[in-house]
Amino acid sequence: MKFTAKKFSPNALIDQLLGFNDVSVLIIGDIVLDEYYIGDAQRISPEAPVPVVLVKDEKALIGGAGNVARNIQSLGGKPCLIGAYGDGHNSKKLQQAILSAGLHTRLLTLPGRPATTKSRILARGQQILRIDHEDIAPLNVTETDALLGYIEEYWPHQSVVIISDYNKGVINKRLMDGIFHLKQYYKNHVRILVDPKPENLCLYPKADLITPNTKETGEGAALPIRNKEELIRAGLFLRKKTHCQSLLTTLGAEGMALFQSKNKIIHIPTLAKQVYDVTGAGDTVIGTIGLALAAGIPLLESCILANYAAGIVVGKSGSATITQHELIKALQTYREPELENWSGCSS
Ligand SMILES: Nc1ncnc2c1ncn2[C@@H]1O[C@H](COP(=O)(O)OP(=O)(O)OP(=O)(O)O)[C@@H](O)[C@H]1O
Ligand SMILES: [Mg+2]
Repeated sequence: MKFTAKKFSPNALIDQLLGFNDVSVLIIGDIVLDEYYIGDAQRISPEAPVPVVLVKDEKALIGGAGNVARNIQSLGGKPCLIGAYGDGHNSKKLQQAILSAGLHTRLLTLPGRPATTKSRILARGQQILRIDHEDIAPLNVTETDALLGYIEEYWPHQSVVIISDYNKGVINKRLMDGIFHLKQYYKNHVRILVDPKPENLCLYPKADLITPNTKETGEGAALPIRNKEELIRAGLFLRKKTHCQSLLTTLGAEGMALFQSKNKIIHIPTLAKQVYDVTGAGDTVIGTIGLALAAGIPLLESCILANYAAGIVVGKSGSATITQHELIKALQTYREPELENWSGCSS
C-alpha cells in the first residue's frame, strides 16, 4: 500500500537541514582505526602465490563510533564522542587520526591492548585483503564507571544519544544499565538510538530506535529472512523482543524498513544512483537520523533524510561522509522516494 509522509517536503527539510548547525549529539561506542593502503598489483610474489601491492597512498581515519561522529560533523552538527581504545599497537596512529578529524572527544585509553584496527589493502579500486588487530575483552568495572562519569557530565545537554556498538568491548551491560538509569533520572527526554550487534540485543531494552541491517535482524530474531514476508515477521518479532519503540532495518540495495507498530511498517526505497563502496553506510544512517531528530525533525522524515544521505555515501570510497551541501543538493535533484506501508504484507 502506498504511504505518504505527511510532513515530508524537500524544501521544508532543506530549511531544517540548515538548522543542523550547532545541534549537539552524543555518540558512545567502540573507537576503531580505519586504515587504507592503496596501490597497484602488477606481479605475483615469488614467495607465495599472492599479488604484491606496491603502496602509492595511505589513509588512516577514526572509525567505528568515530565514523558516526564524523558523519554528524560533516552534516554541520556538533558531535561529542565518548569511547575507549587500547594504548598499545597503533594507538599513536589512532590518536593522530582523532586529532586530524577535529572531533570533540572524551576517550579512555585501555592499558595493554592494541587499538582496534581494520587495515584494508586496495589495488585498482578493489579491496584484496583486510587485516584486523583487536582485543575485544569487555571493559572492567573501573573502566566502565569512568566512561559513565564522562557520559553523566554530557547527558543534561543532549536530546539524542547514539550507541554505536561494534562489539569491540566498550558496550557492556553495566554501561547500558547506567545509561538507561540516566535516561530515567533525567525524566526520559533524551532519545537513545542504537546501532546494535545481534549478540548484545538484550543490553538495550527500551531503546527509542535500533538500526540493525537485514542479517542482524534475522540473527537477532533467530528467524530466516529470504523474502519480504520473512523480513516483516523477523522485524516485528525483534521489535517486540527488544521492547524498542521503533526498529529500522537497513536493507542494503533495497533501502530501509521502519517498524513503528504492527500496522505501520514503512518501506523507503534507496535513491542511490551509483554504488562504489557500501562500507560505513550504516554509520551514515544512524548519524543522520540522530542529528535530524535532535534538530526537531520527526522520525519517519529523519529516516527518509538518512536514506538520501546513505544513497550518496555508497557512491564514495571507504567509510565516507556526506556534507550538508551534498545532502541539500540530493534533496533538490533526486525524486522523492515512493514509500509503501508493508503492514498488510505479512502472512
Ligand atoms: N547496494 C546498495 N545500493 C543502494 N543503496 C545502498 C546499498 N547498500 C547500502 N545502501 C544504502 O545504505 C543504507 C545502509 O546500508 P546497509 O543496509 O548495508 O547497512 P550496514 O550493513 O549496517 O552497513 P555497514 O555496517 O557497512 O555500515 C541502506 O539503507 C541504503 O540506503
Ligand atoms: Mg551496520
